Amino acid sequence: MSDPTPDKELSKVVGSEVAAGLTRWARSNGMEIILPANGWTARGFTDAFVTSLIVRDPDNGDFSLALKVAGEHARSERETHEKALMEAPEEFRANHLVELEHGVIELDGGRIGYFQSLAGGSSRVRPVADLSSAAQHKAAVATCIAASDGLTNKWNTAPFVTRKSTVREFLRREVGHLSGGGTLGSLGRWAASTGWGDLNGRPLRVTGEAVRERVLPDPLLLLGEHPLGACEITVHTGYSHGDLHLGNLLVPTDDRGTRPERYRLIDLSTYQSAGPRSRDLAALLTSGLALLWPGLGPTYQEFLLDDVANFDGEVPERQDKPVLDLIRGVPGVMTAEATRRGFEHEWRVEFTLALLAAALRSTTHENLDPELRWWFVQLAGRLTARYLEIEGVAMSQKPPVEFSNPFPGHRPSPTTAASTTSRPDEVPRLRGLLLGGMSTRDADR
Ligand SMILES: Nc1ncnc2c1ncn2[C@@H]1O[C@H](COP(=O)(O)OP(=O)(O)O)[C@@H](O)[C@H]1O
Ligand SMILES: [Mg+2]
Repeated sequence: MSDPTPDKELSKVVGSEVAAGLTRWARSNGMEIILPANGWTARGFTDAFVTSLIVRDPDNGDFSLALKVAGEHARSERETHEKALMEAPEEFRANHLVELEHGVIELDGGRIGYFQSLAGGSSRVRPVADLSSAAQHKAAVATCIAASDGLTNKWNTAPFVTRKSTVREFLRREVGHLSGGGTLGSLGRWAASTGWGDLNGRPLRVTGEAVRERVLPDPLLLLGEHPLGACEITVHTGYSHGDLHLGNLLVPTDDRGTRPERYRLIDLSTYQSAGPRSRDLAALLTSGLALLWPGLGPTYQEFLLDDVANFDGEVPERQDKPVLDLIRGVPGVMTAEATRRGFEHEWRVEFTLALLAAALRSTTHENLDPELRWWFVQLAGRLTARYLEIEGVAMSQKPPVEFSNPFPGHRPSPTTAASTTSRPDEVPRLRGLLLGGMSTRDADR
């Protein structure tokens, strides 16, 4: 029997191949696919697309669902999502995750599709990353804080378990966990090609307007051969989303405004049952910083480095800014919980290192403004300094390297160019460290 002819309008939205596969699936399961009024199609950072469709089930009626279409890899993504649903406490699952509906739909061209419930039960739900105007920042921050509370108190309700790691092992895993080494590869390439990875332990000297001069440790210091990298740390473990940037945190936003407490986590393909509790909070915070950063003045952007590094200290009330609420609020709930259990110091160490890893990853995001990527390089240096302060270790006395923004779209200063070419013999060592050494690490648990 030949395939049923797909609806022309459906083909326009999802393409004729996907439409044919969907129509085939619908017919053989006694369902009907209907295009909704004001439907939408969205994309994340992968080859996938997500589109809204109504599935009419003759027994249960119509459901407005989100269809995700992606390559073969989506099969295991869906399985990981299913595992997350099965392991989550019932209430958190019902209120803050999205359900999988029906099974895997085989499509042509090496792709599959699967349906999910619409996040928040509403077609008026948006990624927090889209709340980019200044007027929306308060709501964006409130959503990040509501999610951080949920991760700590509503998702991770199982007994609180810690494990040991070393600084280096932890950092390498956190920098590379999303791509089994690929991200490290891109960090390695950036670091080597721009020169900032070629410091080999020498501090960076950066100049600014509000802070005329800063000397920061090499942001890659603790990932390399530094003896501090071998120090043991305590890692707080639990359910972890694994890629909780603000494109994967959705919130209903309509004429009644934004409802932070109704946030949903989507895209659970990197879920782990025993990941570090700091991973998602660090991703939320760095992603939130990236959202708010463009609206901050250059002077405050410089001070912000100190305010982030001082996340559990007395953040000075420079101004009443949503960004200060973000810095305090995102790690704050977990800081309180860790302190209650006697792990205040251990959590400070873990979160400082998790933020350092998240800042390093952010430097590789080519979609970010080159100035923001450069700010993340400095943040990684500032967090390395913070870790040295926590451990009471002095910064290297080696002469600092003059350094300025090395990213494309920003013209390197003559000093930077000179510093990147002066020690070419050290680049291969660095490449070996970043590309070879790290890509062998990390079997996700
Ligand atoms: N269940 C859902 N409900 C509503 N919107 C969704 C849902 N899943 C995905 N989306 C939308 O599609 C976008 C991309 O989805 P995502 O699963 O994050 O894809 P990717 O793997 O490419 O990042 C999201 O940012 C969101 O706007
Ligand atoms: Mg996504």
